Amino acid sequence: MANFISEFSTLVGQQVTIKGWAYNVRSSGKIAFLQIRDGSGFVQAVVVQAAVDEESWKVASEATLESSFVVTGEVTKHPKQEGVYELQVANLELVQKAEEYPIGKKEHGPDFLLDNRHLWLRAPSQWAIQRVRDEIISATYDYFHEHGFTKIDSPILTPSACEGTTELFEIDYFEERKAYLSQSGQLYLEAAIASVGRCFDFGPVFRAEKSKTRRHLTEFWMMDAEMAFVEHEENLKIQEELVSYIVKRVLENRAAELKILERDVEPLKKVQAPFERMTHAEAIAILRKQGSDIGDMDDLGADDETTLTKMYEKPIFIERYPSAVKAFYMKRDPSDPTRVLNADLLAPEGYGEVIGGSQREDDYEELLKRIREHNLPEDAFSWYLDLRKYGSVPHSGFGYGLERLVAWICGLHHVRETIPFPRLINRLEP
Ligand code: 4AD
Ligand code: MG
Repeated sequence: MANFISEFSTLVGQQVTIKGWAYNVRSSGKIAFLQIRDGSGFVQAVVVQAAVDEESWKVASEATLESSFVVTGEVTKHPKQEGVYELQVANLELVQKAEEYPIGKKEHGPDFLLDNRHLWLRAPSQWAIQRVRDEIISATYDYFHEHGFTKIDSPILTPSACEGTTELFEIDYFEERKAYLSQSGQLYLEAAIASVGRCFDFGPVFRAEKSKTRRHLTEFWMMDAEMAFVEHEENLKIQEELVSYIVKRVLENRAAELKILERDVEPLKKVQAPFERMTHAEAIAILRKQGSDIGDMDDLGADDETTLTKMYEKPIFIERYPSAVKAFYMKRDPSDPTRVLNADLLAPEGYGEVIGGSQREDDYEELLKRIREHNLPEDAFSWYLDLRKYGSVPHSGFGYGLERLVAWICGLHHVRETIPFPRLINRLEP
């Protein structure tokens, strides 16, 4: 059985066997250095010609980038770097000799790297990003399971829109029916709360909006949460607790990965509840003072969000948007019916919206009015309206975009690096 590089701190002085790939190779005369990665970590394997048999030396001296190996040797401490280990090779076995690897040490443009995404995924930076992504996912599950939430799986094939109708991917269903790929599982979770009280889903969602920005994918992973008997204020508390918990877990368990990404962790350490709060009206006033010509009842654009988040160290909730710019299901603010009881959570350092959430309209007549105002097909929403007939309760929820969280926490400019195989308007491959 092979050992893992991640266990090397406990294996110093012992003979081990690892299985992996060479991401860098260098040989000079009688000594060769192979940088090996095995999925759990990275290590330098030192092959001294005099210390190995002829076959091992032949393999080492002819090693190519990304060839695969079984390496046996003794784990030693790096002579200079604390916490770094090396492998003094006793035997080296080739699994497969790689052809000339297309991704070299020189700088490549994003298009070339994305065309070769199936290979680029192996780069240490991409390994680190996927490891952070995985930690965010598991922290999310842990937080919810520790707080009485049940995981509910919402469908991907749906008969109608949840968010805006212009963002739907339409597909042919049987007998000349149309189906749509889900934009969010929210409406289904609103049904499930009457069964389990508090729940969340986690899965791929789809948006056909033609947004070509660094924050938009056409397929991304969303976590929706929904809670019975929770109103606007408590909704925000749950969100800031969850996000603080996720960031703390990444700082604790993925420090090495953040270091590979050269992420400054100081701003992340400040991500602790309570977060900043301001109303949409206050945000507009701030933006105007800064010279923006944004209107009173306008939605915030990406640049507006960036401006606001650069003014504070912590994430900011922007509350009570104009109802006209938000989805039909949001409950009106009783103190100002032109606005809704919602909040977008903006991540700091210019990242902008990572969560959208709101209290939901729980009154049958009001909800029916909204559905009509938005010109939505009434019969498609009859089941959703039913929820307001049988034990309707005040309830709230929110959804985060996983890729936006990963981009922010890893300090990446674009969301395309945060998902293993990104889907963008102009990219469906590989
Ligand atoms: O703000 P959105 O559209 O909210 C909803 O879908 C609600 N139904 C969620 C809920 O209340 N359960 O989307 C939620 C989040 C956004 O804040 C953003 O982080 C992410 O999903 N998001 C995208 N991420 C990547 N690419 C896109 N095209 C995205 N659109 C939204
Ligand atoms: Mg939103």
